[in-house]
Amino acid sequence: WGRTGHRATGEVAEQHLSKKAKAKVRELLDGMNLAFVSTYGDDIKSDPAYRKYSPWHYVNLEPGETAYTKEKANPEGDLVQGINTAISVLKDKKASKEEKEFHLKLLVHWLGDLHQPMHAGRGEDKGGNDIQVRWFGSGSNLHRVWDSEMINDFDMSYTELAHNTDRLSKEEISRIQEGSVLDWMYESKELANRVYDSVEVGEKLGYQYMYEWFPVVHDQIQKGGIRLAAILNDIYK
Ligand code: ADE
Ligand code: ZN
Ligand code: ZN
Repeated sequence: WGRTGHRATGEVAEQHLSKKAKAKVRELLDGMNLAFVSTYGDDIKSDPAYRKYSPWHYVNLEPGETAYTKEKANPEGDLVQGINTAISVLKDKKASKEEKEFHLKLLVHWLGDLHQPMHAGRGEDKGGNDIQVRWFGSGSNLHRVWDSEMINDFDMSYTELAHNTDRLSKEEISRIQEGSVLDWMYESKELANRVYDSVEVGEKLGYQYMYEWFPVVHDQIQKGGIRLAAILNDIYK
């Protein structure tokens, strides 16, 4: 996602943190909240010191592969490995506060990316970055349409995107929180397949596309936040 999608993910998570998790998060972040730090993962991309994290924002399976295996995972790291690394550091009693703070910021970011279907897309087109389309008459690509074009054109703030998870019952929240990081990745991957089928290269996209797919954007962002809260509530139980 772009900034708004990431902030909304953090904001939703804040709404679903346990008391204990919220206190630990505030302590690690020196009083800041998850929405505020959610864009850190992208902000450090321009710093050569953090270059190794670039492939950690997405996960591509090899063409024809349907299962994620450790053997075939990107040796440079990927989104699944990034999330698991961040969780391990947060659970590690020997890790310093600085290390934990850094990995918490990345975890918030990566739970967002995990729920952007095109971050679990195909490697050959860089998760849709190489699929050029027209967006309301301007040049864009399928990845960008999903990261930010739809959200920006709705002109939605992150708080608007995040609000309204109280429409969900306790049972619905629990159901969303079931499963593992890998299950959630496969769910994104399935969605990515539908997204690939939703456009032709060079297609002119606009309000029809937006009204058809924005509900999926909204739903994915809310799931990302609700699941991030589940992870943090489990670490700090
Ligand atoms: N961003 C850059 N490369 C990517 C890829 N292969 N998949 C998803 N997002 C990306
Ligand atoms: Zn992206
Ligand atoms: Zn990212």
